[in-house]
Amino acid sequence: MNTFINKFDLTGRKAIVTGGAKGLCNGMAQALHDSGAEVVLLDILDLVEESAKEMGKEGAPVHAVKGDLSKPETLDDVYAECLEKLGGRVDILLNGAGIQYRCPAVDFPADKWQKILDINLSGVFHMSQRAGRTMLEQGYGRIINVCSMTAYFASVMIPAYSASKAGVMQLTRAFSNEWAHKGVTVNAIAPGYMATELTANMKEVNPKQYEEITGRIPMGRWGNPEDLQGAVIFLASEAASYVSGAILPIDGGFMGK
Ligand SMILES: NC(=O)c1ccc[n+]([C@@H]2O[C@H](COP(=O)([O-])OP(=O)(O)OC[C@H]3O[C@@H](n4cnc5c(N)ncnc54)[C@H](O)[C@@H]3O)[C@@H](O)[C@H]2O)c1
Repeated sequence: MNTFINKFDLTGRKAIVTGGAKGLCNGMAQALHDSGAEVVLLDILDLVEESAKEMGKEGAPVHAVKGDLSKPETLDDVYAECLEKLGGRVDILLNGAGIQYRCPAVDFPADKWQKILDINLSGVFHMSQRAGRTMLEQGYGRIINVCSMTAYFASVMIPAYSASKAGVMQLTRAFSNEWAHKGVTVNAIAPGYMATELTANMKEVNPKQYEEITGRIPMGRWGNPEDLQGAVIFLASEAASYVSGAILPIDGGFMGK
């Protein structure tokens, strides 16, 4: 039966998820997998092998590729390996890999600044460009970037992270402007405060800020990986065919308050 709900089905789709070894991106990769997509998890960690094996126990195949997004000179080979594992097609690219460093701006180390921009921003550019070439040839593609609320407001002690995520927001729009009419949509999700390793030390480093944030979230809690899954399936699917250049906050209502 051809019902509208079938448009969310990703069976037969091929996806690359950067940063997919663990954390939020692993959760988002799981959502794509559960919806039927064949997935490559691309990550710098050895753990990526185990994560792919675990996810691929049932359903469509899940592959592991090791790569370092901060090394652009290696990314032609890394992308070629992903493409080869997927049989030469890629329908979905989820640019999720990201790092964080918390330090007052006045002391922020230059090497941390550079590394964060290399992975969080340039990594998105390089992977999108490569996957985009394949998708443009196919006449079909879905790129989903992982932004952050700090793309809108810069918070404190995370100047590089905020700058990188604001850059991802504009890259999303820039690629969308050139590719949307060619069948390749480019969108981003902007997760709110999520309870993960990346944010785990905030409770210790700045307990006052931690309490203030929790009290300000209309839903009264931090998000978890499952909270991102529905939006990712939507943006990766046929159901979102007229959505491009959008930044979707998934933040328990934080941005509206
Ligand atoms: N945790 C939050 O509160 C939060 C909020 C908003 C946005 N985000 C974003 O969500 C994404 C995932 O965050 P997370 O909290 O799950 O973090 P995480 O550290 O658990 O996961 C990030 C993944 O990226 C991978 N990675 C890091 N550097 C890499 C590199 N050079 N090459 C390839 N892979 C690399 C890591 O190995 C890891 O698997 C990030 O882009 C982050 O900025 C997180």
